[in-house]
Amino acid sequence: MSIDWPGLRTAAVAAAARAYAPYSGLRVGAAGQAADGRLVTGCNVENASYGMTLCAECGLVSALHATGALHATGAEDGPQDGPAAGSGAGAPPRLVAVAVVAGDGAPLLPCGRCRQLLLEAGGPGLLVDTDGGPVELDALLPAAFTGTDLAQRRDPQREDPQPEESR
Ligand code: THU
Repeated sequence: MSIDWPGLRTAAVAAAARAYAPYSGLRVGAAGQAADGRLVTGCNVENASYGMTLCAECGLVSALHATGALHATGAEDGPQDGPAAGSGAGAPPRLVAVAVVAGDGAPLLPCGRCRQLLLEAGGPGLLVDTDGGPVELDALLPAAFTGTDLAQRRDPQREDPQPEESR
């Protein structure tokens, strides 16, 4: 599908302008394009209790879920961490491109935690804007821990958690 990179970058800059970053002084905006073409944004939100800071990408991924952008493509629910992923095996990734910028408007590479978060929303092929142009997330987060590792390595004796409704 075609990616509206200028639109994504403009939306990320607008989101950065709305960031709440009085402690670090670093405004961050993120904009993503879902597989259905929908554009969603997020900005960082800080707090006097520093550890509570929310990165811009967290807001973006939350908005993807909250607006239904991850459910509008006909893809199955489940992790989107690659073709061999646990319950999302074979499902096409649903976040397809993301631009993250700082308040100066230039690309900002997602932190490690956010790379992991983006992986589950877009898979290893998610396109991430950089100073040198878009790159696949796989290049920024090689050999990632995924739902497949979880499924294969968890304690076989462990009882499966009961779904809420059966409790
Ligand atoms: N920040 C983000 O929003 N995304 C990143 O990927 C890196 C860091 C924010 C968090 C904090 O509000 C500020 O930048 C300084 O770390």
